[in-house]
Amino acid sequence: MFRSAALVTFVLIATAAAQQAGTLTAENHPALTYYTCTTAGGCTSVAGSIVLDSNWRWLHDVNSATNCYTGNQWDAALCPDPATCTKNCALDGADYSGTYGITTSGDELKLAFKTGSNVGSRVYLLKDDSTYETFNLLNKEFTMDVDVSQLPCGLNGAVYFSAMAADGDSSSTNTAGAKYGTGYCDSQCPHDLKFIDGTANIVDWNATSANSGTGSIGACCSEMDIWEANSISEAVTPHPCTGTGLTACTGTECTTTCDQAGCDFNSYRMWPITTVTQFITDDGTDSGTLTEIRRIYVQNGVVIQNSQSTIPDVTGNSITDSWCAAQKTAFGDTNSFAQLGGLEQLGNAFKAGMVLVLSIWDDYAVNMLWLDSDYPLTKDPSSPGVARGTCSTSSGKPADVESSAASAYVTYSNIRIGELNSTYGSTGSSTGSSGSSGSSGSSSPTTTSSATGSTGSSGTSTGTVAKYGQCGGIGYTGPTTCASGSTCTVLNDYYSQCL
Ligand SMILES: *[C@@H]1O[C@H](CO)[C@@H](O)[C@H](O)[C@H]1NC(C)=O
Repeated sequence: MFRSAALVTFVLIATAAAQQAGTLTAENHPALTYYTCTTAGGCTSVAGSIVLDSNWRWLHDVNSATNCYTGNQWDAALCPDPATCTKNCALDGADYSGTYGITTSGDELKLAFKTGSNVGSRVYLLKDDSTYETFNLLNKEFTMDVDVSQLPCGLNGAVYFSAMAADGDSSSTNTAGAKYGTGYCDSQCPHDLKFIDGTANIVDWNATSANSGTGSIGACCSEMDIWEANSISEAVTPHPCTGTGLTACTGTECTTTCDQAGCDFNSYRMWPITTVTQFITDDGTDSGTLTEIRRIYVQNGVVIQNSQSTIPDVTGNSITDSWCAAQKTAFGDTNSFAQLGGLEQLGNAFKAGMVLVLSIWDDYAVNMLWLDSDYPLTKDPSSPGVARGTCSTSSGKPADVESSAASAYVTYSNIRIGELNSTYGSTGSSTGSSGSSGSSGSSSPTTTSSATGSTGSSGTSTGTVAKYGQCGGIGYTGPTTCASGSTCTVLNDYYSQCL
């Protein structure tokens, strides 16, 4: 109660002020081509651009170059209270490649992990210079090519959708808006944002790392993690929250507003690849209820179905409410996913429009062990669901990876959004793009249920597996003979591949 009352006070005071834009560095959004696809018409290029999140930007006195925020601390003179801070400080333009290691070329985005003293980055896809593109993926699919080969244990190259406002929560107290990457929120209700809803988050600011801290306010909203990955592991995870847009939270609200755990499918396997994520509705329309999220991979023309769950009583290779419930039971977890509304509630966020987020980061909370190692450490590593990857439980400490993996990077390219089954296969190649970087997303339409590749066999245990297809692993029942020129190679207990 006390916390909520305090938040109301901030908002009232803040109406006299504004989160605003500075003018010392020009803001030029890097161009990024992407594609929209239909089954009938193939893919058409769209001239998009990206914007850096406001938290990474220089925040300075609106009248001078004096920092409002240095390292992990606010300037006490410029920021004595939220309203004065919001009035005194301006976000400025970004030198994308020089300061942040963010570069684009045609339809490819490259995010470097460390550039000078900068660590990680987060960018959003724009529709125009002051508006985020928003997507409803219901009855659609999202496809991209990813190279995570340069991401070691502890790093995370993430592509996801957040239920942010298209204008970045522009208001009389936030005149910077989406042009400067404002309005971020996600299902972890992050407290490290310097501004939330046009209010400086300076109350109870605690330094948490050399360049970050946390304030008393969190920013919650539904999140659909298409891809969180490094070279070891990868997960696809829906996280519904109450409401469909940003909810500012304080205190315990920040742990009950969203399904922070999510319902994750972690296949524990990885290679450079095209990834397709399909959002199936109950009635096969864009306005239906979200009932299933399917994952497909394509590599060198071979369509590879997602791995089947091998956990007893958790059957299937896609995310449904019943799969989540079975997984939570098997892993001994509370089903917060169902409590927060499950797939239907995530679908409601899509209906309201979600913003595409692309990022690279390390993890000051738990060293990314939830993605690539054993987690939680309090559980026996042999109990179901604890093993998530082969990284050591001592890996991923930011102090280590920021020095040992300073040259790490991730690339995302050939982003395609369209009707189900329209973004991969032979029609997946781009048309009409002047900026295509010629990445390898175009692939053969040949699809079989067990990755038997271009032979088109029906997925029985006889036959030959094409190069890059699956040829073994726990739960796998398809053919195990690799096409000539490739050898069945064990990647982990669950996946062997013809390489
Ligand atoms: C997409 O392809 C899959 C597998 O070939 C098929 O089962 C499904 O019906 C297709 N969906 C649509 C909408 O074409």
